[in-house]
Parts: sequence; structure tokens; C-alpha cells
Amino acid sequence: MSESLVDQSRALAAEASDAVGKADSLAAIESLRVLYLGKKGRLAEMFRRLAELTGSEKSLAGSAVNTAKREIEEAIRSREEVLEAQARDARLSSETVDVSLPGRQPLRGRLHPITQVMDEIVGVFSALGFAVAEGPEVETDRYNFEALNFPLDHPARDMQDTFFLPGGLLLRTHTSPVQVRVMERLKPPIRIVAPGKVYRRDADVTHAPMFHQVEGFLVDREVSFADLKGVLSLFARTVFSPDVRVRFRPSFFPFVEPGAEMDIGCVLCGGKGCRVCGGSGWLEILGAGLIHPNVFRAVGYDPEETSGFAFGMGVERIAMLRYGIDDIRLFAENDLRFLHQF
Ligand code: DAH
Repeated sequence: MSESLVDQSRALAAEASDAVGKADSLAAIESLRVLYLGKKGRLAEMFRRLAELTGSEKSLAGSAVNTAKREIEEAIRSREEVLEAQARDARLSSETVDVSLPGRQPLRGRLHPITQVMDEIVGVFSALGFAVAEGPEVETDRYNFEALNFPLDHPARDMQDTFFLPGGLLLRTHTSPVQVRVMERLKPPIRIVAPGKVYRRDADVTHAPMFHQVEGFLVDREVSFADLKGVLSLFARTVFSPDVRVRFRPSFFPFVEPGAEMDIGCVLCGGKGCRVCGGSGWLEILGAGLIHPNVFRAVGYDPEETSGFAFGMGVERIAMLRYGIDDIRLFAENDLRFLHQF
């Protein structure tokens, strides 16, 4: 009986080592471990039979069964090591990093062309000592119209295509109300540019319901139309080209007297006349004038002592002329193929 247990345990160790040596996966090893070493496994069976023996028979068989157990455990451990190493090698070779691949390019953001042009316009006036001011986009009738010398029921209000809001409010139709807000707070001398969004009920290829303007004004004593022409000519030469031609045409805005529009020689045809300038050779780029005495009165200035000029321009219009863009809607479509060109 003990003889046979000794033999059987040696045979079991040999059989198990052989099977383990052939196992080709960690899962296969695991089932062999259960088969040989598990609670209901082949070795457990031998330990049970060992318990039935006594004396020297028991000790002989006991050491044989224990040796078999150690051999099987060792066989499993070393096969596991081999399989784990193989799995690691396989993973490493399938996961190789190609250090020569180009890095991933993060998408670069950039300023919207309207923001760029607006910053550039503001920059020209900052260099001349103008400070920047902003005002609210939701305005009252007083700031948008009344204090700017648009009398109630004056037809000039119709030019503005206003979006009215409940409570007597409106979306500002121009940045000129910032003039009034600033003059109410400060005493002359004043030099201000006011960039911002404005709103009008209007939409076609050259008009958008929301667009941007830059307003500017200078208030001091004895300011003349020559000052206005000098500053705005310098502006046109900086933003368009050093040899651009400019001209001033009389025009009407309620808050200036005299009022004018400034044209530049057409940037596309150089003055010969083309589709963009409607054959005239000139492009209108802004409105301007000497600030009306009624505006000074509205903010509590004495029009006898105070004088100033003001101007206002559409940023989209300037950008379209500068880059030869013929549809204002492109600025609001968020098409990256368009935006990336600037
Ligand atoms: N606020 C005028 C507009 O939107 C533009 C303008 C004209 C502004 C003449 C001025 C000015 O300051 O003097 O259409």
C-alpha cells in the first residue's frame, strides 16, 4: 500500500510536470493547478489516503507525497513565469511607440477678423492719445436719440431701423450714445474711441442685424474741421495705404454740424471706377462732423466755450473693403476655411 502511494505520487508528479510544461496559456495552467493541487484535486486524494496509513509506512509515503506536491508547485511556478514573460513580450511588441511620428498639432485659435480690424482701428487712435470707452448695448431713447439731437418724431430716427425692447429700452443703433455717456462723466479735454456692437433691423449682403462700429470724438476749445480732417486722413493712410486719397462730402447727422462723410479712393480700381465703387472711384468709409451745440447742451457743457469733432465707422465695412469681401454674412458663419485666412 505504501509502496504504491510512493510510486503513485512520483508518477503523478511526472504526469503533472509534463502537462504543465505543455500548457500554452495562463488559463490552462490555472485549470491544471485546480486539477492537481485543488481541494478536490489529485494530490488532495493522495493526502486522504496517507491519513489511512501508520508508522514508518506513513512517513515514507508522506515524504513522497510532499515531494510530489513541491515538484508540481515548482513546475507550475516556472511555467507561469515563462508564459507571463511571453505575454509581456507580445504586449510590448504590439504596443511599440513610433518615436519618428510627427506630434499631434493642437488646433490653434485666433482672433476673429472683425476683432483684428477693430483692434487695429482702435490702435491708430490710441497712438494719437485717445482712450477707450464702452457703453451698454441696451440703451434708452435718451442716449441713443434724444441727447444726440434726434427730436421726437424726427425722420432721422427712421434711418436707424431700431429694435425696440419692452420698458422703453432699445438695442443701440450706433455707438454715438457713448459720446453722451462719457461727456456726462468727464470735463474737456476729452479724446475717446468707443468700439462695440450695434443693432439694426436690416439684412442683406452688406447689412447685418448686428455689426460693429468704432466711434471716436475729441472735445476741447477751438477744435476745427481741419483737426478732424487731419486725424481722419492719418487714420485712412494707416489702415488702407500711405498714399490713399481721401475726400470729405457734406452729409447730415443730427448730432454734428457741419456733418460729412469721408471717402477714400477705391482700393480695388484705384479710382478708375469699378463694380465695388459703383463706377465713382470713391468708397465711403465713415461719417463725421463737428459736435452739434445741442449735444453739448444735453450733457451740460457750454457750447460757446466748447468745441469738438466726432466720427463713426462700421468695422465690417472697413474689413470688407480692405480684404475684398463681398458678403457681410461670411463674418458670422464660423466657417474656418474663411476665418483661417486672416
Ligand atoms: N452714428 C452714425 C451712424 O451710425 C455714424 C456717425 C456719423 C458717427 C457722424 C459720428 C458722426 O460720430 O459724427 O450711422
